[in-house]
Order: sequence, then structure tokens, then C-alpha cells
Amino acid sequence: MTQKRIGILTSGGDSPGMNAAIRAIVLAAHQFDFQCIGFISGYNGLIEQDYQILTPQDVQHIIHRGGTILKSARCPQMCTVTGLNQAVSSLIKLKIDTLIVIGGDGSFNGLLAIKQNWQGQVIGLPGTIDNDLDGTDFTIGYSTAINTAIEAIDKIRDTADAFDRVFVIELMGRHSGHIAFNVGIATGAEQIISFENFSPEQAQEKIIQIVNDIAKQHQQGKSSYHIVLAENLWPGGPQALSEQLKSMVDIDTGLCVLGHIQRGGSPVAKDRILATRLGVASVHAANRGETDIMLGELKSEIVSVPLSEAIMHQKKVEENLVAAQEDILALSAQYRKRIP
Ligand code: F6P
Repeated sequence: MTQKRIGILTSGGDSPGMNAAIRAIVLAAHQFDFQCIGFISGYNGLIEQDYQILTPQDVQHIIHRGGTILKSARCPQMCTVTGLNQAVSSLIKLKIDTLIVIGGDGSFNGLLAIKQNWQGQVIGLPGTIDNDLDGTDFTIGYSTAINTAIEAIDKIRDTADAFDRVFVIELMGRHSGHIAFNVGIATGAEQIISFENFSPEQAQEKIIQIVNDIAKQHQQGKSSYHIVLAENLWPGGPQALSEQLKSMVDIDTGLCVLGHIQRGGSPVAKDRILATRLGVASVHAANRGETDIMLGELKSEIVSVPLSEAIMHQKKVEENLVAAQEDILALSAQYRKRIP
């Protein structure tokens, strides 16, 4: 059997389950008698040759931990020729055969750039809460992030109901609406404002629709009203939306920007299992000599897709779900029971 040296790094926004993936890679590599080297703080560790050898002992009891034991970072240096050359020199100097990167589309762009200048194998594992990568039904961390958001919004609903308040709740996702749309659906939001059903030019029209909707709901009986908003979408941000509403309706309007709470926490079962399956599969793929691929899970099967295809298009939110929200679920506010 050929001895291989596998380099591992976690890059970009961390996501719950990255540790489970690192663990699986290290344990699977041990079975093949491959050596694992973990680079610290994403591509920065590769450029600066800041690394640690990873043994099965090092990955004990990390499967339940959020974040990443290797730390993560965004690395603007990778967009420069100097940074890229340094990264490639490190791989050559450290005699790495395979580089496995756990991250999102930005991280995979870095991996593709490396591949153009290096002979070794490159493998990506989808690790981002945004779930925006093609070639996998789910990314590592997404399930935990939406469960965290759902738990938080359910709590907001209790207090919003008690005061008949309107709440604007902003969720992460960068430029993709998987988190906002699916969490909005799962929490019974009266409004979901996301990339799939809204563009900034429609802001005025949307405000009027919301104000009318709240008025109709009040005719039926007072209640809370949740507006789940995808980040980086509303002109002026969530504060602007909540201020605009406050000025138009005489109703208490609350604002919650859920932020990085969505990125942390112990991974749910689905993320631990996905990360473990993908981690083990990546070592098998390395052993078979495969390269330039991302491993994902489609319809419960582990699949391998060309790395370039995984980032060519942003994965879309299911159209049926968007239609159901627009045509059926968003009308639920009108069916309030009158409370005397
Ligand atoms: O890509 C993951 C993500 O959490 C996005 O949802 C969000 O827009 C971004 O990272 C936040 O990045 P940072 O932690 O660098 O502010």
C-alpha cells in the first residue's frame, strides 16, 4: 500500500460538524496507514506552514463539538499570486499527496487555484451552514443551523404572542435563502422575505402588502406576526425594515438579528452522520487516486462531483416550497381565531 500524507484544513465560516469530518478523515486514514496533517486557521496555516500532525488520539471526543479544532479563517492572501505560490510551496515541502478542504464555495475556489499549480490530489467536503453548494442535498452544518434558528424563533413566538407584537427576524445565509426560507416555513412565519421571492426594488410594494396583511389579521383578532428576513437583502438592512413598519403601523415591532448563534453549538445527529460519511469517503477517494472532486450526499447516496461544478451555480431553494409559501402558507395570518 502506498503511504500517503493527507493535509486537512477547515476554511471560511465554520459549521457544526466540521470536527466530526476531521475525526472521520483521521480515523479512516489511520486504517490505510496514511498520515494526516491539520493546517491551522484555514489556508493561512498552509501558507505559513502552521500545522499539527493529527493522530486518532487527537480527534477523540470532538464529534459533539461545534466550531473546528483546526480553527478557520478567510484568507485574502489566497487571491494573490504570492499567497498561492506559498501555499503550493508548503504542499511540496511537506510532501502532501492529498489536500482535503472542508468549507464552502470560497474555499473551493482556493482549492481549484491550488490544483492549477500543483500535481497532488484535491478533495472538497461541503462545510457551510448556508447549504448553497450544488452536488449535495445538504452541507455539513446546515441542519444544526436551521434547528438552532427554529428553536430561537419558537421562543420569540411565545413572547411575541403575549404582546401581539410584530417581529422582524434576520437569518444568515450570505446570498442564499436556504436558511431563511426553510426556517420561515418550519416556524410558520407570516412573511418570508428571501432571495427566492423578493428583490430590493419590491421593498415599497412589500411594506404595503405587510401593512395590509397585519390590518387584516387584526380584524380577525390580534396576534403576533413574524417576518423572517434573509440577510443582505432588505435595503438598509433589518433595522430599516423594522423602523419603516413602526412608522406605518401602530403596533409594537421587535427586531432580532440572530447572527452567529446559528453557526455555533453541538452538531445535530444529521450533521454528525453526514460529516462522518463524507470524511470516510474522502479517504477512500484519496486511496483510489481521485482528484478535483467534492463529495456530497444526494438522495442518501454518497456522490462525487467535479469541484468546479459544485461552485458553478448556487443551489436553489426547492421551487415547490417557495410556491407553497406564496400560495398557501403566507395566507395563514388571515385565518386567525377572534379572541374576545
Ligand atoms: O458562510 C457562512 C456565513 O455564516 C454566512 O451565512 C454569513 O453571511 C457569513 O458566514 C458571516 O461571516 P463572518 O463570520 O465572517 O462575519
